[in-house]
Amino acid sequence: MCGIIGYVGERAALPILSTGLANLEYRGYDSAGVALTGDELTIYKKSGEVSALQGILPESTEHTRGIGHTRWSTHGPPTDENAHPHTDCTGRVAVVHNGIIENYDAIRAELPEHTFTSDTDTEVIPHLIERELDDGAEPRAAVEAALERLEGTYGLVVTVAGVDELYATRRDSPLVVGHGDDGTFIGSDVTAFLEHTRDVTYLEDDDFAVIDDDGLAVYRDGEAVDPAVKRLEYEADAAEKSGYDHYMLKEINEQPRALRQTISGRIDLEGGTAEIDVDLPTPYLESIEEIQVVACGTSYYAGRYAAGILESAVDVRTTVEVASEYEFDGGRDPWRTLVVAVTQSGETADTLSAVRRANRAGARTLAVTNTLGSTVVRETDDSVFIRAGPEIGVAATKTFASQVATLALLSVDIGRTRGSLPYDEAVDLLGSVRQLPNAVQSVLDAEDRVKAAALEYADSDAFFFIGRRLGRPVALEGALKLKEISYDHAEGFAAGELKHGPLALVTERTPVLALLTDGARPDETRNNVKEVQARGAPVVAVTTDDGDAGSGTSEFDTELTVPPIGALEPLVANVYWQLFAYHVANEKGRSIDRPRNLAKSVTVE
Ligand code: F6R
Repeated sequence: MCGIIGYVGERAALPILSTGLANLEYRGYDSAGVALTGDELTIYKKSGEVSALQGILPESTEHTRGIGHTRWSTHGPPTDENAHPHTDCTGRVAVVHNGIIENYDAIRAELPEHTFTSDTDTEVIPHLIERELDDGAEPRAAVEAALERLEGTYGLVVTVAGVDELYATRRDSPLVVGHGDDGTFIGSDVTAFLEHTRDVTYLEDDDFAVIDDDGLAVYRDGEAVDPAVKRLEYEADAAEKSGYDHYMLKEINEQPRALRQTISGRIDLEGGTAEIDVDLPTPYLESIEEIQVVACGTSYYAGRYAAGILESAVDVRTTVEVASEYEFDGGRDPWRTLVVAVTQSGETADTLSAVRRANRAGARTLAVTNTLGSTVVRETDDSVFIRAGPEIGVAATKTFASQVATLALLSVDIGRTRGSLPYDEAVDLLGSVRQLPNAVQSVLDAEDRVKAAALEYADSDAFFFIGRRLGRPVALEGALKLKEISYDHAEGFAAGELKHGPLALVTERTPVLALLTDGARPDETRNNVKEVQARGAPVVAVTTDDGDAGSGTSEFDTELTVPPIGALEPLVANVYWQLFAYHVANEKGRSIDRPRNLAKSVTVE
C-alpha cells in the first residue's frame, strides 16, 4: 500500500502535494516524491519519510498541477531511484502507482532500447507511454494504449510535460477524486485532500479519468459517464482509518486485498510452481538438511504454522524457535542449514540477534519480512517480501496472514526446486493459497456471528483456544491476540493437552474456542470439546463448511464455518479469532490500536 496525491487548479500545487503526502504517510513511508507539471516536468524524490522529501523541496514554485507519492516498497529497496514518480527516457512522462504490475518483466523485455533507472515494476508504465508518443499518439491515447498492456493491480496517475490533463485509472487499488472550489484533487484515499474538499467521486475499476481545469471527466468502456459526487461527513482521523473505528479493524478487513498483493504474480498453477524470487542457489537448496525458523510473537506463530507445510513440502526437518531462545547448536551442520527469520518489521532485536548467531555459525539466512530496507534485509543472505502494506495497529493481523501465505509459496518454491514436492500436491497447495482472499472475505462477511459470541462472553473469567496440527498455532495466535488487546487471560493449547492439566481451569465461565476444520484432526478435537462441555464451558467452534451449514442444530454454542480450501483453512479461521478479540476488547473500551505496555516494533532484547 502506498499513497497517491494529484492536483490541477488555480492554486500553487507544491504545498498541496506536500501536505497531502504528509497526510498519507500512514499508507507508506519509505520514500516519497512529486512531479510538478509545466512545459517540462520538475521532479523531487527522496528515500526516507515525507519530511526528508520536504527538506529538499523549494519554498514555492509557480506550478498549478502535479502528482505525488509516498511509497511502501514491494519491488526494489527504498532508494531515491526507486521512489515515485517514475519517468520515461526523456523525462516527459511521470507516473505514480500503487499496486503491482505482474507482467513488468515481459514489458521490460519488449523495450530493449529504453533505459531503466530503477528496480521497480512501475517504471515500465512511463516507458510504454513514451513508446506510444514516439509512434505519434496523442498523450491521452498514448496513456490509454499503454494501459492495455498492464496486468496486475494498480491505482495510477500520469502527467505529461506541456499537457494540461492528468490521467488516472485503477484496478483493485482505490482512487478518489476531490472537487474543490479552486481545483480538482485525486488521491489514493480522501485523507490526501480532506482539508480542501469533502465532495468526492470514487473511481471504479477500469475507469479512465481525465482531470484538467474543467474538473473531472470519466470514461467507462470508452463512453463518457456522469460520475456520482458524494459529500463526506467524516473527519480526517476516521478517513485515515477508511471510516473504521480502529486501524486494527481496518487491517483485519484489508486482508483479502493484502493477500491478493502477497500472491500477485507469484503463482504458476499450470507449472505447479511458485515464483518468489529466492536467489539462494539451487545446489545449496538441494543440499539442505534442516530448516530453522526463528521469530517472535505473532511471527513465531506464523512460522509454526508454516513449518507444518515446509517440512512436508521440502522434506527436511523443520524446527521453529522463539528468537530470544535461539542458539546455533545441537551438532547442526551450518552448510546444510537454512535459517529463516520471519519478522514483519524487520527490526525486532531478538530476531536480529538470532540472525547474527546463525550468520556467525556460517549458516545461510533468509528473511521473510514486510519491510524492504529494514535491518533484517541487510543482514541476511536473501529476502522474501510479504507485501501486506504498512500495519499501524500494534496487534499484528494482516501480516500474519500474508506471512503464512508467503511461507506456503516458499515451501512450494523450495519443494519443487528440490524435487521433494510432487506436482499434484504443489498444485493443491497453490490452489489453496489462491483461494485465500475470497475465503477470508467470506469470514469477514460473517462478522456479525462472531461479534455476537464476543459480546456474549466478553465478561468471562478466561478464554481457552484449542486446535490440532495446523490449528494449534492458530489457537496460540488467537489467545495472544485476545490477551494483548483485551487484557483478559487467554491461553492456547494443543487440544489433546487439555486433559493433561489445563482442564482443571475449565468452568462455565471459561469459553473454549475450538478449531475443528478438516485436516486439523477435527474428530479427535471433538472429544476434547465434549470434555469441556461436560464441565459447563461454552464452546465457539470453527468447522469446515460441508454444505450443510444451518441445516441442523449445532453441537456447539456458536458454530462458525470456513470454506473448504485445504491446508490453509485454519489460517482463514484465524480471522474469526481476530474479530472475536477485537469485539471483546472494543466492548471493554480498551486502547485497541495501542495496547498498554506494548510497542509495534520491539527493538530491545
Ligand atoms: C502481536 C505482535 C507481536 C509481533 C512480534 C514480532 O500482535 O505484533 O507479537 O509479532 O513483536 O514482531 P516482528 O514481526 O516485527 O518481528
